[in-house]
Amino acid sequence: MSAIKRRKFLTLSSGATAAILLSQCSRESPQASSPGSTLAQAQIVSSEGGLLKVDLEARAQQVQLGDRSANLLTYNGRMPGPRLEAKHGDTIQVRFTNQLSQPTNLHYHGLHIPPTGTGDNVFLEIPPGESHTYEFQLPQNHPAGTFWYHPHYHGLVAEQLFGGLAGLFIVRGELDEIPEVKAAQEKFLVLKDFALDRSGNIPSPGHMAQMTGRMGDLLTVNGQFNPGLQIPQGGLLRLRLLNASSSRFFRLFLEGHPFYLIATDGGAISAPVELRDLVLVPGERVEVLVQGNREPGQYRLFNQPFNPAQGRGGGMMGGNTMGGASSQENAEPIATLTYSGSVDQIPLPTQLISVEPLPEPQTVRQFTLNHGMGMGMAFLINGQAFDPSRIDIQVALDTVEDWEIINTGTMTHPFHVHVNKFQVVSQNGQASPYLAWKDVVSVSPGENVRIRIPFQDYIGKTVYHCHVLDHEDRGMMGILEIQQA
Ligand code: C2O
Ligand code: CU
Ligand code: CU
Repeated sequence: MSAIKRRKFLTLSSGATAAILLSQCSRESPQASSPGSTLAQAQIVSSEGGLLKVDLEARAQQVQLGDRSANLLTYNGRMPGPRLEAKHGDTIQVRFTNQLSQPTNLHYHGLHIPPTGTGDNVFLEIPPGESHTYEFQLPQNHPAGTFWYHPHYHGLVAEQLFGGLAGLFIVRGELDEIPEVKAAQEKFLVLKDFALDRSGNIPSPGHMAQMTGRMGDLLTVNGQFNPGLQIPQGGLLRLRLLNASSSRFFRLFLEGHPFYLIATDGGAISAPVELRDLVLVPGERVEVLVQGNREPGQYRLFNQPFNPAQGRGGGMMGGNTMGGASSQENAEPIATLTYSGSVDQIPLPTQLISVEPLPEPQTVRQFTLNHGMGMGMAFLINGQAFDPSRIDIQVALDTVEDWEIINTGTMTHPFHVHVNKFQVVSQNGQASPYLAWKDVVSVSPGENVRIRIPFQDYIGKTVYHCHVLDHEDRGMMGILEIQQA
């Protein structure tokens, strides 16, 4: 069974090879060959005097996606929504209004904040027309990093995210102060696929979406098709990427340039790691540096079709079983880098922020991921589908646990845990090559991934789930209760 839709590719002459997707969802495909407009950056709302105050409204809105008008779901009329920026210790106040025609709520993906009350409470239901004020404080030791917000109302998460509801939540701090990182030009890239019919509406997902999750063939970066990015010769570019797609996996490579990984989901790693390609599974973030040390010219950032039913996902682990990691066959440019100007050469940083290994776990648990057939496709953890009235596991505050995630099914599942970040200890028994803070880890069919989680600071109920959101909506989620020890 082929999990990715059949596609046709045209090859344009004149040296430039462009893969123009012709699929059922996007027959009027954008001109993916020539770089479009300059990469746009979202409206920024920053904290002032220790307070970040923002009004967010979820609503349907017609927006421009490249050269097309699209009827999307937006925060404040934009896709992506405003970029929120705060520092550790700041108070966050989000006055949220639901102008959708269905219930929704907000989740602060990756933030270490309380899962209860007005915090990262995914059990809230905000009905159409109603408002809720989220208010919480980032702890004083919250790491700097690339986090994000999106809806989390069980059963409608895939639909609402696929519709366009997502925005970045940036925490500034130590990483931003490393001289070479500070000297780099910073760009945010929200990767998101869309499907549109001729009238600019999102078609209802076909039956394949039950399995693979809904996907579209319009690949956008900040809502644009193949936008242009500049780099000065000698300079450094700091790309901060989020895969905000509800199901699509990205595998990126940049012509002529390796990536230097400096941060994963939960913040900085200890030292840069050179990568030829970058896998971003749904929900995952990375930060990379790119060096402007090639001949001035244009270099395309390609996405290679990635079949989540096979191969390795998981970004940080680099290795893959797909073969031809950097082949341009079937690849599609999603952005184009152009040299412009020059600066005195900025070196790569050698040292970032050390990631300390966690102590040995007090408890080891197993989570088996699989799917079953009931009334339609069901996605299960340890044989059970999500039940909002059942607490699946209870853990003690201030303990460390190892979770072994075992995929016995046929689809790849990006496993995600709320509130507390983790380290990947091993994949199929192989120790991780370097330490990194993660909150999403991809588990391929047949794989066994061991993660180590410290439960710190907050008690209460929260969730863990597959970040292919159709799988989550169809049951692949469980409830975790953190209790006072
Ligand atoms: Cu971004 Cu519960 O997820
Ligand atoms: Cu999350
Ligand atoms: Cu899944």
